[in-house]
Amino acid sequence: TNSTPAGFEIRRIESRDFAGVTTALSGLTTVGDLSQSQFDDILAYWDTQLLPGRTDGARSYNTSVIIESATGRVAAVGTVFVEKKLIHAGGLVGHIEDIAVNPDFRGKQLGKVLINHLSALGASLGCYKVILDCDEKNVGFYEKCGYSRAGVEMQVRM
Ligand code: ACO
Repeated sequence: TNSTPAGFEIRRIESRDFAGVTTALSGLTTVGDLSQSQFDDILAYWDTQLLPGRTDGARSYNTSVIIESATGRVAAVGTVFVEKKLIHAGGLVGHIEDIAVNPDFRGKQLGKVLINHLSALGASLGCYKVILDCDEKNVGFYEKCGYSRAGVEMQVRM
């Protein structure tokens, strides 16, 4: 597991990350015209979603940002969503979603640091596995983060 490089910090997403997070995510997909107040409402909703039966404040939605300390810029953003299942005796599965490193910060190990952080967060919350879907072109990146191929993604679009 890589530690956070000097000059950067990792923390839970906050309201002030709006511009930097939407910029980083636009390198992944269409963010659309999300306002600051919609962003704040989503963060507030995420904060309310506690894992059932837990008294330690553990949440389902765990979105982390890597911040460049000197400037406060958002270098990277990503989520591990923790799902409570019926199978595996009510086990927890972590889903890594919406990983994006701002183009100015790619190739500095920050993507790997972020995935390692989210995987460890999933483990610390009690997940028995953490899974994700990605494009073929990113398989090598996730393999460097300790992931291996499992299954096939399928979808129906509405
Ligand atoms: N294929 C193979 N290897 C790769 C790739 C790739 N596409 N990208 C990075 N690597 C390697 C690096 O060379 C490095 O190798 P090393 O440890 O031997 O030096 C290692 O993986 C770690 O690379 P990082 O520097 O941590 O990668 P970076 O910070 O540039 O982030 C990322 C990679 C997240 C894919 C970035 O390019 C990005 O944001 N891309 C656009 C958005 C995107 O595709 N996000 C992922 C969507 S999938 C999902 O969200 C579940």
